[in-house]
Amino acid sequence: WFLLLGNRRRWEAEPPLETGWIPYIGCAFEFVSNPFKFMQARQNKYGEIFTCKIAGKFITFITDPFSYTSVIRHGKSLDFQKVALTISKNVFGHVDFTKYDIGNDEIHNIFNRTLQGLSLGSLTSSMMENLQFVMSQGKSSSDSSSWTIENLYEFSCKIMFEAGHLTLFGKNDKAMKGGDVEKIKQQHDAIQFALEEFKAFDTVFPALVAGIPMGFFKTAKKARKALEGRLLNKTLREQDCKSALIKERMELFDSSSSLDEHNKAKTHVIMLWASQANTLPASFWSIYYLMRNPEALNAVKNEVENILKVTNQKPGDINSPIIFTREQLDSMTNMGSLINEVLRLSSASMMIRVATEDLLLTLDSGRKVAIRKGDQIALYPQLLHLDPEIYEDPHEFKYNRFLDENGKDKTTFYKNGRKLKYYLMPFGSGTSICPGRHFAINEIKQFLSLMLCYYDMELLDFTALSPTLNNTRAGLGILQPSNDVLFHYRLKQQPAKQ
Ligand code: HEM
Repeated sequence: WFLLLGNRRRWEAEPPLETGWIPYIGCAFEFVSNPFKFMQARQNKYGEIFTCKIAGKFITFITDPFSYTSVIRHGKSLDFQKVALTISKNVFGHVDFTKYDIGNDEIHNIFNRTLQGLSLGSLTSSMMENLQFVMSQGKSSSDSSSWTIENLYEFSCKIMFEAGHLTLFGKNDKAMKGGDVEKIKQQHDAIQFALEEFKAFDTVFPALVAGIPMGFFKTAKKARKALEGRLLNKTLREQDCKSALIKERMELFDSSSSLDEHNKAKTHVIMLWASQANTLPASFWSIYYLMRNPEALNAVKNEVENILKVTNQKPGDINSPIIFTREQLDSMTNMGSLINEVLRLSSASMMIRVATEDLLLTLDSGRKVAIRKGDQIALYPQLLHLDPEIYEDPHEFKYNRFLDENGKDKTTFYKNGRKLKYYLMPFGSGTSICPGRHFAINEIKQFLSLMLCYYDMELLDFTALSPTLNNTRAGLGILQPSNDVLFHYRLKQQPAKQ
């Protein structure tokens, strides 16, 4: 009878269980309306571990960061691939690639090979070139002294999406180098259309992750199909300077004799989403907090100017591209700390694993808890990021929170007097850790540096409250702002000659 209703009893040694009172839905409405508040209230009530029924699934949340290791290290009996594939199939509408001779290991090897190590250098320099190209198209020297007013989130999305798209999926290099205005405009318009389609698709992303079929969302379905149409292999083959990531994925998926062209295009839509969905809001929050905090702005500006000086480069000339190497970006510790602080405040990702067998999980406290086969285990690092025992005044932005007394990266954070292994997890951890994390940090650093090099910029209403976080994507990564903010910018004024 309990099974029919979808209810279940708590067994001995299982975590406290909350099923909610609505069959199937369980605690879903309360969770979705404010995930952080929901989690905090349960943490206060149950402590280090509890199970909730959410939309038909039993999810066991572990809230004690010292126990995260038991989940992250429990490789075989807590699986990531299965849950990722189920979600990905519903969201992107693709087939199960493993049935088409494409192995998960090969896919992951490509991520690691092309987004990290040696490849990161060329990916980063390609992004630097593309960012400057996109920015130079936006504002020419003819209107150099006039201020342009724009919405900051919209502006950040336009620039970062286009530059990221060119970097990953390639471009018409000849037209760009030769200044072929018409072809450059065609390319720009196509990518900006793709951004609109991307946004329409992204809006329903949380619903698709929750298992609602795409058929319910006509506009988003059309948008996803349009994105697929733009990313067919035959179109990509004509592009110059594609990233190694996309080139190698094209080769891998082409190696399957039976996978059709539309499913191959869907694999590129996955990469487009993974590379942009979090980067866009993270770039917005970074430039927003930079403009909002004079102290941070000053520290970061000095850092950028210093590198320009030692490398003998001049800021402000959009026609003479600036080059910052990967190592120079790494050396920008003030900016790195600012970005970490932004990620701490705006990230709400959830790491999920599925129990492939009944198991006993040993928590840091020594307590052993029983987990049933098929149940999900989740870590919700936002609880960690906003824990006042770890971060003083956790809701306040402090750009130098991740700097030590010598101005180097701070990596020691404590809870109850104990040093934490996990204190900042916007990119997940363990087998599912984001393979694009180093590139993501680099591209945000490039965006901030170039904005500072080329533009004078200010928020229009400096005294307005900061936008709140839009919770609709909670669990999926960096949260978007619930409203946009106006700013104005103009090309940097060259100092008058004496
Ligand atoms: C996965 C965060 C940017 C590529 C993930 C995951 C998170 C994440 C939380 C899932 C981890 C998990 O489930 O445990 C972020 C954030 C970014 C960012 C916060 C920007 C601020 C990027 C970029 C790329 C990228 C720029 C590629 C160019 C991927 C890929 C995966 C992934 C391919 C799936 C990995 C897998 O299946 O194992 N990311 N990401 N990400 N990310 Fe990122």
